[in-house]
Amino acid sequence: MRETIGVIGGGTMGHGIAAAFAAGGHDVAIWEPDEGRRALILPAIREAYTLLTEEGVLGATDAAAAEGRVHLAGDLAAAVAGRDFVVEAIPEQLGLKQALFADIDRLAPAHAVLASNTSSLPLAAMMEPLGVLRRERTMVTHWYNPPLIMPLVELSFFGNMPADVYDSVSRMHEAIGKRTVKVLKDVPGLIANRIQQAVAREVFSLIEQGVADTADVEKALMFGPAFRYATTGQLEIADFGGLDVWAVVGDALLAVMDASKEASPLLKRKVAGGKLGVKSGEGFFTWDTATAGDRRRDFLRRLIHQSKVSRTFG
Ligand SMILES: NC(=O)c1ccc[n+]([C@@H]2O[C@H](COP(=O)([O-])OP(=O)(O)OC[C@H]3O[C@@H](n4cnc5c(N)ncnc54)[C@H](O)[C@@H]3O)[C@@H](O)[C@H]2O)c1
Repeated sequence: MRETIGVIGGGTMGHGIAAAFAAGGHDVAIWEPDEGRRALILPAIREAYTLLTEEGVLGATDAAAAEGRVHLAGDLAAAVAGRDFVVEAIPEQLGLKQALFADIDRLAPAHAVLASNTSSLPLAAMMEPLGVLRRERTMVTHWYNPPLIMPLVELSFFGNMPADVYDSVSRMHEAIGKRTVKVLKDVPGLIANRIQQAVAREVFSLIEQGVADTADVEKALMFGPAFRYATTGQLEIADFGGLDVWAVVGDALLAVMDASKEASPLLKRKVAGGKLGVKSGEGFFTWDTATAGDRRRDFLRRLIHQSKVSRTFG
């Protein structure tokens, strides 16, 4: 019997997480309080499944069956009652998450495992309202956007979580095609977002300094380091290159690279000027609605192609 799932929050991440579990055969109840956003959940899931069908990843019959496994709940209680696993994807605000976990704790069965998709909040702080027994069954499951396609789910938990609970959550995600990693400490950003921020800091800095234009910085990343990262990790790359070489180059470059402790001034100037990226029509590039839509669909297709290839990697 597959675990029944409750998803709380039906925005960018919540609807994608629901779609991923339903495609993997789980029955999913999803609660989204905003009426307008609630109305978008099923059409967005249908559109995502259609893309997977067009790319030959999901059969049309399986897509229809998966869609039938997603139920819009009428309230929070309906989304968590009797569920084996409840994951929240509401906005990144500590107070909101604490209040929600207190409510879920009251409404969910005692055996249910609770999870947060937080990007940056400490697990210990979010779980303050919970009692000892529930804390043993509460964790972070951090998905990557877009959740239906991206394989990575980072798992972080309290030291007192029994090994069999952790293993069952990890197995459940692996069984729907995800790749889970165990994060041993309650650190903000877990693993992947910290690595990504380190790369982004240098990318913004290179542009700020005028070392290359935006297109060339993107190209250098895509066809240099990121091209290798799609097939292997940093440590294997270092072993192949030779650790002595990495040590010498590290000493030379890290002395002159950006080491700032806050977001890039270039980024902050853009935000202050209303240049927020696709949603405002301009960020590092200029966007109109049609171009942004085409580019995003193209991006999703390329991710699907990449995931087909990468599934064979360890
Ligand atoms: N967007 C990303 O790329 C990304 C990636 C990984 C993790 N995350 C994390 O996932 C979480 C959700 O992010 P998102 O981008 O999906 O946000 P979002 O704003 O797209 O969606 C959040 C949804 O939660 C709903 N909501 C607000 N309060 C609620 C409540 N009390 N109960 C139920 N629903 C409620 C909102 O109406 C909204 O639809 C955040 O913690 C974020 O940090 C986001």
